[in-house]
Amino acid sequence: MRSPLLRSETGDGPLPFAASAPRVRIRRTAGITGIVRMTDSTDLFLGSTANGDRRSLVLRRANRHGLIAGATGTGKTVTLQGLAENFAAAGVPVFVADVKGDLSGIAMAGSATAKAHAAFAERASAIGDSDWRYRETPTIFWDLFGEQGHPVRATVSEMGPLLLARMLNLNDVQEGVLTIAFHVADEDGLLLLDLDDLQAMLAECAARADDLTIRYGNVSKQSVGAIQRALLQLRSQGGDRFFGEPALDLSDFMATDDEGRGIVSVLAADRLMASPRLYATFLLWLLSELFETLPEVGDPDKPKLVFFFDEAHLLFDDAAPALVEKVEQVVRLIRSKGVGIWFVTQNPTDIPDAIAAQLGNRVQHALRAFTPKEARAVRAAAETFRPNPGVDVAQAITELKTGEALVSVLQDDGSPSPADRVLIRPPRSRVGPVTPAERAVLIDTDNVGDRYDVAIDRDSAAELLGAKAQEAVAAADATRAQVAADKTAALHARDEARAAKEAERQRIARAREDERAARTAEREAAKSPWNRATQSATRSAGSAVGRIVVNEIGKQVFGTTRGGRAKSGGMVGGLLRGVLGGLFRG
Ligand SMILES: Nc1ncnc2c1ncn2[C@@H]1O[C@H](COP(=O)(O)OP(=O)(O)O)[C@@H](O)[C@H]1O
Ligand SMILES: [Mg+2]
Repeated sequence: MRSPLLRSETGDGPLPFAASAPRVRIRRTAGITGIVRMTDSTDLFLGSTANGDRRSLVLRRANRHGLIAGATGTGKTVTLQGLAENFAAAGVPVFVADVKGDLSGIAMAGSATAKAHAAFAERASAIGDSDWRYRETPTIFWDLFGEQGHPVRATVSEMGPLLLARMLNLNDVQEGVLTIAFHVADEDGLLLLDLDDLQAMLAECAARADDLTIRYGNVSKQSVGAIQRALLQLRSQGGDRFFGEPALDLSDFMATDDEGRGIVSVLAADRLMASPRLYATFLLWLLSELFETLPEVGDPDKPKLVFFFDEAHLLFDDAAPALVEKVEQVVRLIRSKGVGIWFVTQNPTDIPDAIAAQLGNRVQHALRAFTPKEARAVRAAAETFRPNPGVDVAQAITELKTGEALVSVLQDDGSPSPADRVLIRPPRSRVGPVTPAERAVLIDTDNVGDRYDVAIDRDSAAELLGAKAQEAVAAADATRAQVAADKTAALHARDEARAAKEAERQRIARAREDERAARTAEREAAKSPWNRATQSATRSAGSAVGRIVVNEIGKQVFGTTRGGRAKSGGMVGGLLRGVLGGLFRG
């Protein structure tokens, strides 16, 4: 990937840094496969007491977790960075959540022109660290949003309904519905990869709510609606970029470089404050996945992987008790997989007790004790240390200099060392952020980007349910078309029937007309000279003269008197019958 950032920063000319940038080449040999290049170190140099006594972290106990605490500006982040680079130097891969962006500098060598150089050089000499020199640490940048590092993704199904319910802050009923949605997707062979898939699946569940309720229990449209709303919120926090493929391969976090140095994976977490739930759940997922993937190793010679969570209070602020409980459980169990977790926060009381109790290695920087509350916090912090007859721990906590800390580490036998005031060694890498251009070059030149930088969108639930929905739409269209065709046909038939009826009506009318015409013709025919005479005679039959004429004619024609039966026919008789018949009919 050539990042747009790099292009815009470089313009036409090459970047000076681009040529000399360390090309980080990771080898996925550590951790999961169990092959970690052995280095000689059995402990990590932390710093020295005022007397010049060296204090170190025992690598064999570094999986028993740790805490770095202290007020703002007392040296926590610098201590974290120094520890992280030391782990890496000893061949231990490291993961850090970089909340303020200032840990990214671990990728670069420190510089004699940097602001903190004088303080660091002085510290190095004060503690007799003759080996101290500036050096970079092999670093891979990651980002849940894919902007400040390679995209870190997980699929919805990898995350699972329980973690997702926590991420979305669902209640029990809603969590139940979500679980059913996962189950139905599984049954129907639909992949849940991204948020589109999950939303489509939930819509499908809402559509089938009645049927699903009968089979699995209550699937109400209200619950589905509530989950959909929570998903929308997660989307607006950028969750849509986190869920999908290619999903993170955990072995990329468990890697070393060609020299056998552990790779430091820096996760951009500057948006942690805006979307704490997304981060907290992601980190919990990461730990859970590691827990499930890694073999049981007890206390290995050195950890397989070490996590640092700077500004860790953000993970626990407003966290649901269930989430805290889950973190506590994972922290407790994961150490036997060789994973060490360090929390970095202002006050030890920021960390829930059940978790704080499991942090065996402690580096306590200065705390203020101006208010009664602060004084209580100092006493509480002091009580977590094994007493040291030579040190008034509570008082020391308020007196520590910048970059100085009370240190108690787990010793070889597993017991904590007495608390000592230790001047912490300065880091070799740069303190402070990388520039955007440096970050872009580092992202572009490592050998991880090829596998992650382009998102894949396989056919999954959203596409398949979408296709199903399209089929339904097509079927509905076809039905509609059929109904319309039927209607047209019916109208057509009606018109035809009407036309036929009209034709029949006209035929009948014509027939009547013909009949009338025939009768008229008959009448006209009757107007022949002879007929006209009889006609005029019959017309005047009403008169006395006429009656006599008729009677006379009648006698002649019928051969009888009126009323008697006519014996003769003939043409005249026929004509008369017609005329008389017409008279009697009319
Ligand atoms: N071990 C150290 N040696 C010398 N100076 C230090 C050391 N640790 C911290 N400092 C100085 O203190 C400053 C603040 O440290 P930092 O780690 O950022 O504090 P915090 O994270 O506690 O707010 C650093 O920029 C550096 O100048
Ligand atoms: Mg800090």
